[in-house]
Amino acid sequence: MPGRVLYIRFTPCLANSIGSLGPFSRRSAARVTDYVSPNKTHRSYSSRMSHSTSHGPVTATPAIRHSNLLAIDTGNLYRAGVGQEGIDTSEVATLQKRLTDIHSRINADGQGLVAEFACLHLGAAMQPEIAEILRAASALRHYRHIVLIGIGGSSLGTKALCQAILSEPREHADSNKPELHFVENIDPHALRPLLDKLKPADTATLCISKSGGTIETVVQYLILRDWLVKNLGESEARRHQWVVTDPATGWLRELAQNESLAALPVPPRVGGRYSVLSAVGLLPLAAMGIDIAELLEGARANASRCSGAVVGENPALEIAALCYLLDTAHEKRISVMMPYINRLQLFVDWYCQLWAESLGKWDREQKNSRPAGTLPVRAMGAIDQHSQLQMYLESRHDKFFTFLELGEWDRDLPVPLDNTATRHFPYLTGRSMSEVIDAEFKATRQVITEAGHPNMTITLPQLNAHTLGQLIDLYQRVTVYTGLLYGINPLDQPSVEKGKRLAIDTLRKLPAR
Ligand code: PA5
Repeated sequence: MPGRVLYIRFTPCLANSIGSLGPFSRRSAARVTDYVSPNKTHRSYSSRMSHSTSHGPVTATPAIRHSNLLAIDTGNLYRAGVGQEGIDTSEVATLQKRLTDIHSRINADGQGLVAEFACLHLGAAMQPEIAEILRAASALRHYRHIVLIGIGGSSLGTKALCQAILSEPREHADSNKPELHFVENIDPHALRPLLDKLKPADTATLCISKSGGTIETVVQYLILRDWLVKNLGESEARRHQWVVTDPATGWLRELAQNESLAALPVPPRVGGRYSVLSAVGLLPLAAMGIDIAELLEGARANASRCSGAVVGENPALEIAALCYLLDTAHEKRISVMMPYINRLQLFVDWYCQLWAESLGKWDREQKNSRPAGTLPVRAMGAIDQHSQLQMYLESRHDKFFTFLELGEWDRDLPVPLDNTATRHFPYLTGRSMSEVIDAEFKATRQVITEAGHPNMTITLPQLNAHTLGQLIDLYQRVTVYTGLLYGINPLDQPSVEKGKRLAIDTLRKLPAR
C-alpha cells in the first residue's frame, strides 16, 4: 500500500467520497495508428514521417494494440495537419544525416552508467541496483515521516511521480505507512511549522544532492540534523539519516563517510534534472510504495521504442527534429505543455525544468552562435481554457503545443441531472465527468489547430509506473537530441552554477557575527 505524500497539492477527487462508476475506458486519440514496425518494435505512434516517401515508409502492418504504450500523435506539427505554419516533411528529411550522427554518438560509448549519456540508459542500467534500493527503502519505511531535503532535479521528479502515481493522501489516512515531506525552497515559514509538527523519534531525513553542496539543501539539512541530534543524541540521530549523493566527492559524501550514514550513489555522469530514474528518485519512490521495477521497465520500453536511427522509426528523434525546426525555421519560441489530467501538473513542472535548464544556452565554442531553446510554459486543461487560451488563439503565432491526455480513467462520476438541469444542459444527459473533460480537450485542440498553431498529443493509456517511466525516458531523450541538434551541451547548466557561486559570495560579504 503506498504511503502518504504531503506538501503536494492534490485536487480532491469527488469519486473518492461519493462513489464511482468504476473502471471506465475510452480511446480518444482517433488519429493515432497502432502498428508494428519492420523491426517488430511495438508502437502506438502516428507520424507524417512514417509515411514519408523521402525516407521510405515504415510498414503499417495490421493493428496490434499494446495498451500500456504511450500513443504519440505528431500529425498536427506538420503542414498536412495544421496548415502552412506546420513543418514540411522535406525539412525533417534535410536533418536526417545529423540525426543519425546524434543517434550514433549517444550509443557510441555503450549503454551503461558510465556512458556520456547514461541518463538515457537508466531503464536498463539501474536494474541491477533495484535490490539495494529496495533494502534501503524498506528501512526508511519504518519511520512515520520521511523528510526529503533536495532542490531542482533532486526533488522535482520525485514530486511529479508521487503526484501522478499515488492516490490521494486521504485514502491512506489510517495507514501506518510513511508520509513524505518535501523540504525544497529555503523558506523559514515552511520549515518551522514542519519541525513543530514532527516527532524526531518518528522521523527520517533523506538528503539528496548530486553535488553535495547546494546551499538551500545544505542549510535545511543542517537544521534538521541539529534538530535530530538535540532530541535524540548523536548516535541515535545518525540512524535517522539517509543521503543520496555523488559516490566520491562533495560535503555530503564526506559527511556520510565520517559518520557512517546510510548512503546511495548518484551515477557521476547523470545530472540532477536527468536523475529521477537513479537512486535520487527511486529510493524515495520505493519508500512510498511505488513499483520502481515497473518504472524502470517503462523507461526501458521507451528506450527500445526509440532505438531506431531514422525519424519515422524513433518518436523521440522525430519530436526533437520538429521542436528544433519550429524554433529555428518557423519562429515558434514558446513550447506550451497542456495536460488534461490534474495529476500531471508537477510532471509539467519537471518538463519545464528539464527543457529550460538543458536547452536555454548558446554554443560557447561557436562565434556568433544564436541562443538556443524554446521557453517552456505550463498550462492546465481545462482550467487554462478560462485563462491563457484567449492569448493562444489571438496573440502572436510564436508557440507550439503539446497536449497530454488520459486514455482510461480509473475513476469517473456520472453527471446527475434534475429536470431543470436537463432543460438547460440536455447534452449532458447520460454523460460522465471524463466525457466532459475529453470533449473540452478535443474542442481546444481543434481551435488551436484551426488557428494554425502546430501541436502534438500524447495519450497515456493509464497513469501508472510503467507509463510514467515511458514519459520520463521520452522527454529526457527528446531534450538530449534537441540540445545536440542546437550544437549545445544539454547536460550542463553553466549559468545556474554561476548563480550558486554568487549567492555564496554574497554570504561571505555579510558582516561577521
Ligand atoms: O539539473 C540540475 O543539475 C539542477 O537542477 C540540480 O538538480 C539542482 O541545482 C540541485 O543540485 P544538487 O543535486 O547538486 O543539489
